[in-house]
Order: sequence, then structure tokens, then C-alpha cells
Amino acid sequence: MKIKKGQTLELDIIDIAFGGKGLAKVDGFAIFVDNTAPMDRVLARIVKKKKQFAEARVMEILKPSPLRVEPPCEYSGFCGGCKWQFLDYEKQLEFKTRHVAESIAHIGKIDHVIVHPALPSEKIFGYRNKMEFSCSDRRWLLPREMGMEGVERGFALGLHVPGTFYKVLDIQACLLQPGLGNQILDTARQYMKTSEAPAYGLHSHEGFWRFLMLRHSVAYDHWMVNIITASEDRNLVQPLADSLIEKYPKIVSVVNNINTRKASIAVGECEILLGGERILRDRLGSFEYEISANSFFQTNTRGAEELYGGVKTFAELSGGDTVLDLYSGTGTIPIWLADSAKSVIGLEMVESAVADAGKNCRNHKIGNCTFIQGDIRETLSEINERPDVMIIDPPRAGMHKDVVKQVLAMGPERIVYVSCNPATLARDLDLMREDYEVLEVQPVDMFPHTYHIESITKLKKKDRVRL
Ligand SMILES: C[S@@+](CC[C@H](N)C(=O)[O-])C[C@H]1O[C@@H](n2cnc3c(N)ncnc32)[C@H](O)[C@@H]1O
Repeated sequence: MKIKKGQTLELDIIDIAFGGKGLAKVDGFAIFVDNTAPMDRVLARIVKKKKQFAEARVMEILKPSPLRVEPPCEYSGFCGGCKWQFLDYEKQLEFKTRHVAESIAHIGKIDHVIVHPALPSEKIFGYRNKMEFSCSDRRWLLPREMGMEGVERGFALGLHVPGTFYKVLDIQACLLQPGLGNQILDTARQYMKTSEAPAYGLHSHEGFWRFLMLRHSVAYDHWMVNIITASEDRNLVQPLADSLIEKYPKIVSVVNNINTRKASIAVGECEILLGGERILRDRLGSFEYEISANSFFQTNTRGAEELYGGVKTFAELSGGDTVLDLYSGTGTIPIWLADSAKSVIGLEMVESAVADAGKNCRNHKIGNCTFIQGDIRETLSEINERPDVMIIDPPRAGMHKDVVKQVLAMGPERIVYVSCNPATLARDLDLMREDYEVLEVQPVDMFPHTYHIESITKLKKKDRVRL
């Protein structure tokens, strides 16, 4: 059967692909259908047709899959924050484990790797300690609001429709964050919406309010609010900060990041303290961390403890080992490993994260960790001694190929690779497979109801046959 754009078909979903889309096949031809689960029968319209595959949009679910559950969130199916709420959690874990294994086999071209079942997240709602809500001067409507009279369209503070940069849903409550976060979100929305300054237009690049970032400390049940604006105007932001602090005593920090650039990111070129402290304190295991607004900190606090426990096990430290931690953020992994290593050096680009890392070590009287700030492509060459163990925890894009080359030239005996993206993990493992053997992989679910999965990979340097 010939597949054409615009065509409507009845499809049986047979699998779920990496990226979260359901997969159907017509005469062997792959069709990806968003918001579907294996064993669904759906009526769908082809919206994109390529040589190798097509993409379709569901028009009607003719027979729902037994893997479906009732999603508790009213934005499920429309919001890009989490796309798998309609899937049974046990099944989510199963699919994630399989996606890690398949990526390593197909992209990494490495067979017979032991991939353990994904460790579940202790909480499957309210687990995120950081949320970033976007402002927009145009609100994206839900289907039920289309054509309704009196629907406000001029302002949104919320999350994006999947895969879009300008379609922002006005989110009243996000179930991925703890409840108080939604009250703070609503107070900020009312203030921004009725203020004299407009929301930032994602097409026009004009306007004032850009993002609202909320961080939660699990250990202390405290909150940090980061208001990101396009310019500096203390008269506009200070009353918002004051009213938030007055209304919610659990808010211990309000900062204003100013991002004058077009790039749609919640990190500013400068930061103004509006109330409380500039940092938020949280604990991982027995360690307390100070976290600045722009520093990376794992977004699922309990999940991070599982993750770091796994890193320590895979690192097999003897007490006398030297460790090099690439992409060290606020120093969470070095601090976690410090008592079992001779020394740990962390490399990290973000200045505030390196400052936090140094402070976090001093606070714990840890004297065997040092940090070097800068792009790893440059700073890695400053390390003259070969470490016994290397920890690598890059951002989603994985390692730059120059960094992989430097890692291979350095040649540590053991590597523990922590990744939040199975595809780039597998690509990097492929580049390393001549020199390193992949011993085992432990996926850790830090992101329930999304298709994202964290994983820890244990690598060992291959013995070279000397001629
Ligand atoms: C996934 S986070 C890991 C942080 C830390 N290991 C943890 O568990 O909290 C990746 C970190 O890499 C840093 N980073 C990204 N690109 C970098 C680069 N080219 N050089 C140095 N650090 C970089 C980011 O700022 C971020 O802190």
C-alpha cells in the first residue's frame, strides 16, 4: 500500500520507539504515531512522509491498549513536559530499559552488553526539584477552548507543546513538581499578567517577562524563585519578589536573571538578588549542597542518590585511586566519592557551579577535591597525570569528539559514563569500543512519565596484545 501525506488510516501500534512515539507498520513501512501505546488500534492521519518512514497524528483511538492508564493531568497529550502519563509506570520502565539496550546495540554497535532493569523513581509525581516555565505574549489554547467565547489569549506562563518553541500552554498546575510550586506559579502569573510590562514575544523578541524558574529543596522543603526578564527593571520585579516572600514563608531565595539575548534560555548574563539568599541548600545522602540559580543539580533528588550510589559501586575505588570527574557541576559526584579516593579533580564550565563546588567541599571539610573551570576541550589537556578512574557525565549532547580523543589518549583503567541520553551515550561508546570494553549498564529512572532515562555504564580498558 502506498502511503501519502494527508491519508487517513487504521493502524495497529506494535511497539514504542526511542523518543516516545508509537510504531505501526504498513507492509513493512514504519509509521510513528505520537501519544499511542503498543496494542492501541487508532485512526490516524499521515502528517509527514519521508522515504524511510512516515509520521501520523491520532484522530481517534478505536481500541485502547491494555497498557494505558488514566492520566491525572488535564494537559496530558498536549504538553511537552511529560508525554507518557497515559502509560503504566512498570511498562515505562520496561520500554526505557529496552531503549538503552537497543541504542547500545544499534548505534554503539556493541553486542551482548548486560543492561540491568531500570531502577524506578521513588516518587512518580512531584519528583522534580526544578521547573522552568516560559512566558509568552500569546497563549496556546487546548482543543476544548477552541471557539469558546471569552478565552484570554494574550498571556501564558507554562510549558511548551511538544517540539515547539512558540506554543506555550498556560499551565495552572504541573504534577511533576511539589504542590506549593503550583501556588507560587499562580501568584507569579497573576502579577506578571496584570503588570504594566508585557510578556516576551517568542516571535517578536520584544517584551519583559521571559521565564519563571522554581527550585525546591527536598531536605528543607524550601524554595528558590528565579525570575528571568529581558531587561533590568527593579521597580517591576521587586514587588513580585516581596509579595512571594510574604505569602510563602518557604521561599528562601528570589533572584532575577537578566537575559537580553534572543536565545530562549533561562540563564541570564547577570543576576540580581531580590530577597533571601542567593543559593538554595539541599542534601544528597549525608552531604549538604549549596546550589545557585544557574548551577546544574540533578532534577530528581532521591533519584540522584540512587545514581551516585551506582557510580560509586561501578568506580570500585580502593581508597588510593586518583579520579577525574568530567562535567562536574556543583561537585556532587566528587564529594560523593571523596572518602574512597586519594584525590578527585572536577572539570566544569559554569563559573557559579565551580564556585558552589569549592564551597560545598569547604563546608564538608573535604580537602582532596579540586575543580578547574573552563571548557573541557581546553581544560582536559591541563591534566598531566593519568587518573585511575574517570567519571564522565556530559550534557544531553554527549562528549565532543575532540574530548573523546583526549579521553582515549589519557587511557584511564576504568571509566564510569553517566548519561541522560542513550543515543549520544551509544555514539560515544562506539568511538571508544576499540579501547574499552563495556562491562554493564544500569539505567536509573529520574524522569517518570517522560521517555528520558539516565544510565550508568561501567567500562574497562582492554588489554592490548604487545607484539
Ligand atoms: C549532566 S550535568 C552533570 C553535572 C554533575 N555531574 C551532576 O551530577 O550534578 C553536565 C554538566 O556539564 C557542564 N558542561 C557542559 N558542557 C561543558 C563543557 N564543554 N565543558 C565543561 N563543562 C561542561 C554543565 O554546565 C553541567 O554542569
